[in-house]
Order: sequence, then structure tokens, then C-alpha cells
Amino acid sequence: MSRWVEVCPEETLTPGRMHHWEDNYWVVMVANVDGQFFAVQGNCTHANVPLAQGVLEGHTVMCCQHRTKFDVTTGEILEHHVRSDTAPALPDCAGKPMVEPKSRPLWVYPVKVEDGSVWVEMPDALPPVGIIPERRRRGRR
Ligand code: FES
Repeated sequence: MSRWVEVCPEETLTPGRMHHWEDNYWVVMVANVDGQFFAVQGNCTHANVPLAQGVLEGHTVMCCQHRTKFDVTTGEILEHHVRSDTAPALPDCAGKPMVEPKSRPLWVYPVKVEDGSVWVEMPDALPPVGIIPERRRRGRR
């Protein structure tokens, strides 16, 4: 059975802002796009970086690590940097050439505003690997 979780006060999530929320099983990013709220998987599908650390422009969030762009309304990838023979790979944070991204779309969650808070509906199934918080995958709680 799914459950609704309260992720933040509505007043703190003003238009153009994002909020990162997680528990032991789920990582979620909620965004306010021109007064409409959206909830997606909170970590980038490329290398698990929190998307709330990125940049939100309209309905597009750009990951701060390698600049993959996702649509927060659908979870789809809008743009990512693919290594090719004609364009050198972008460096990662350590300055090494980045491997080709293995990105996939973000999970999208139902979201609502009620009683002055933003709520996200968590599915009843456990999340697949990649959506589980990093600390839990390493065995820490
Ligand atoms: S970690 Fe987000 S694009 Fe690489």
C-alpha cells in the first residue's frame, strides 16, 4: 500500500526552488515550477548526485556534476553529454575524462499540497538500486 509523506512546508518551496528529501528507502526531489509542484527521483541516474544541488530553469533541472538535464514534469532526459570520436569527453570532478553516461529517466512521483505542506506519494514496492539512498547501499543507516 502506498503512503503519502510530508516532505517540506509549502512556503519554503517558492517558485524556482528545489528541495531534497530522503528516508531509509527513498530519495526524492520536489520542485516548484511557476507555482506547480513536481516530485522526481532525488538522485541523478548517472552517478547518484543529489539533483537539488543542481540548477532548475523552468521545468528543467541540470545535474551539477556532469550537466545532464532532466524534465521534472516527466523525468525524461532532455540532454546529456555523450562521448564520441568528434567531441572530447567532459572532465569529471577529479579532472579525468568522464565515461559515457548510462543515464536513464527519473522516477516521477505523485505530489500534492495539503495543510500548508508538500506531500509525495511513495509506492509500496521497494525502490530499485539507484533510487536507494547512498548511505543505505553502503550498509549505513
Ligand atoms: S552525476 Fe549527474 S550527470 Fe553525472
